[in-house]
Amino acid sequence: WVRMVTAQTPTNIAVIKYWGKRDETLILPVNDSISVTLDPAHLCTITTVAVSPIFDQDRMWLNGKEISLSGGRYQNCLREIRARACEVEDKEKGIKIAKNDWEKLHVHVASYNNFPTAAGLASSAAGFACLVFALAKLMKAKEDNSELSAIARQGSGSACRSLFGGFVKWIMGKAADGSDSLAVQLVDEKHWDELVIIIAVVSSRQKETSSTTGMRDSVETSLLLRHRAKEVVPKRIKQMEEAIKNRDFGSFAQLTCADSNQFHAVCLDTCPPIFYMNDTSHRIISCVEKWNCSEGMPQVAYTFDAGPNAVLIAHNRKAATQLIQKLLFCFPPSSDADLNSYVIGDKSI
Ligand code: DP6
Repeated sequence: WVRMVTAQTPTNIAVIKYWGKRDETLILPVNDSISVTLDPAHLCTITTVAVSPIFDQDRMWLNGKEISLSGGRYQNCLREIRARACEVEDKEKGIKIAKNDWEKLHVHVASYNNFPTAAGLASSAAGFACLVFALAKLMKAKEDNSELSAIARQGSGSACRSLFGGFVKWIMGKAADGSDSLAVQLVDEKHWDELVIIIAVVSSRQKETSSTTGMRDSVETSLLLRHRAKEVVPKRIKQMEEAIKNRDFGSFAQLTCADSNQFHAVCLDTCPPIFYMNDTSHRIISCVEKWNCSEGMPQVAYTFDAGPNAVLIAHNRKAATQLIQKLLFCFPPSSDADLNSYVIGDKSI
């Protein structure tokens, strides 16, 4: 017999960034972060997990290519879910797995991203969230999504925020064992459903410095990071929660852009400096800033993760349409800038 479960998980985009760990193994952050989860129809991971007595080892395929599961992050997620596995019985298929059997059984995992892996589009976030969620369903673990988020976190920090739709906060927590470092939903996907998210794919090439290495270097060398984590983010988190609750787009946009810019300033303040944005990214920022300024009130927020691609959050459909026209004007199809496509998705799920 084979027992299979398939899950689909969207990626999330941080509007208050996570950058820096206080514990590298447990993946515990130096500050809280807030993200918005995308519509699963757009940027997502689909993962099928299977268990069968004939499998002789745990194996995983990512986008059709076998990858090693020996890394600590995969092992931690598998171990944590196995420890919570429950008895499974499916009389129709003649399946009966006792709680203790899970230790001896192996899983096969097949995962697909519908967007470029490791191009700064948070593919690890959707990937680990989906893996942990699918394994939990396969093994009938009873944990709720916040509890599962603390396991997904051990795969990739940002993954913990993809267990929920809408706006999500990753509470950094204080405990040394990481038990209180988990994600909670701030508001669901219906709360602010007029927002439109546009991703301008500046480059789908793999980033040069992974987030993991980059943030390690920042923690070791950037004084700005310390100031940010201690003094800036705690206040911003409160203001952002308020802006989201009140659907106050002006404050939301100002905080989102400022936080993205500070994150990239921390990258520059790192030794050796990290450059995730390129000239095209900078031109997109100027274009949005100019437009927001001329309107007298922000129409669009921008945010950039560990790569040059722009995530643009428009106030509503009208602003999104105007933004696309502006981007097409600034980057006509024949221009030599490396801006090649737009992925358009509603925030709502
Ligand atoms: C810039 O979650 O990819 O996207 O925990 O080492 O796997 P690890 O890092 P990762 O870092 C994401 C950083 C970011 C900001 C964010 O998503 O909050």
